[in-house]
Amino acid sequence: DENTLVDRFGRTATDLRVSVTDRCNLRCSYCMPAEGLDWLPGSELLSGAELTRLIGIAVRDLGITEIRFTGGEPLLRKDILDVIGAAAELSPRPRMSLTTNGLRLPELAGKLAEAGLDRVNVSLDTLRADRFFTITRRDRLDKVLDGMAAATGAGLTPVKVNAVLMRGVNEDEAVPLLEYCLDKGYELRFIEQMPLDPQHAWDRDRMVTATEILDMLGAAFELAPHPAPRGGAPAERWVVDGGRGSVGVIASVTQPFCAACDRTRLTADGQIRSCLFARTETDLRGPLREGASDEEIAALWRSAMWGKAAGHGIDEAGFAQPDRPMSAIGG
Ligand code: GTP
Ligand code: 5AD
Ligand code: SF4
Repeated sequence: DENTLVDRFGRTATDLRVSVTDRCNLRCSYCMPAEGLDWLPGSELLSGAELTRLIGIAVRDLGITEIRFTGGEPLLRKDILDVIGAAAELSPRPRMSLTTNGLRLPELAGKLAEAGLDRVNVSLDTLRADRFFTITRRDRLDKVLDGMAAATGAGLTPVKVNAVLMRGVNEDEAVPLLEYCLDKGYELRFIEQMPLDPQHAWDRDRMVTATEILDMLGAAFELAPHPAPRGGAPAERWVVDGGRGSVGVIASVTQPFCAACDRTRLTADGQIRSCLFARTETDLRGPLREGASDEEIAALWRSAMWGKAAGHGIDEAGFAQPDRPMSAIGG
């Protein structure tokens, strides 16, 4: 079929992850150094009109049905409401979600919902203010918690919460985080840390694994496999205490889900990355600015997808971390 994005391993991408900025208002230690990064200059970022054009091509010509806005922190982008509003006009209308650190949700949740956003995922690794400061180097825990409540109030549901557990930092918070999220009606997911940190300090043997997390949760809650089909979703889900809520574990490292991956990614500077860990990128910004047609852009996107690797290869000899930080690739 001409109207799909397929790779040589038979996977079809229906989910587009768009990084709208590489900037962030936190400095999570697993993502950025304390001083931040060399941000992309404005001229290298896709404009709102360029983003809108590429999203339109993805939906109309390439079979994309789900759009995820990421960053960096996507809510730092001034025209985010316009970009979402334009995408909501497409037909068929894509489902739209956004992954955020939550800081700007108290002011923006209502406007995002009005613009057409369906739901949000919020990153939260700890409920303790001192640890929040240690991990993110900013003292803003209360804002994040207010942001999650604002998202619920605006109907951006289900609100999903992403937590990365790190040994010696917050590994003892699996149970309290789940208690909190069950109480508030959020769907918590624990994520195995992947080798994407700028310090290259990630260590396979120190990583808190999905098995360990499930053991900790299993000692405090009754977990039963979730009946809903998983599809291409990274999270394996469990029903908690016979229906109080659910919890997910994203075991990207110990149980890779690459074989079921249904994603394509667009970086903030207009490069297609077929995988988080891709070794190559395909430039769409250049052709776009030189006047390429929709068909030409779609053809470049299809050939980028065809070159997608079978998996992230973290466990393979010769694995190298991507040279781009997570915030520029899109988390
Ligand atoms: P939903 O469950 O549909 O809300 O989406 P999601 O879980 O994919 O979205 P989110 O942006 O919240 O990502 C959660 C985590 O999944 C991220 O922190 C990453 O660790 C991981 N992840 C996202 N995309 C990829 C990917 O392409 N490959 C791998 N290996 N992990 C990914
Ligand atoms: N491994 C796993 N998840 C990560 N995130 C950021 N860096 C990493 C990493 N190295 C998470 C953030 C956010 C999501 C988009 O990615 O916590 O929730
Ligand atoms: Fe910002 Fe997310 Fe990176 Fe934290 S993990 S610094 S919130 S982009």
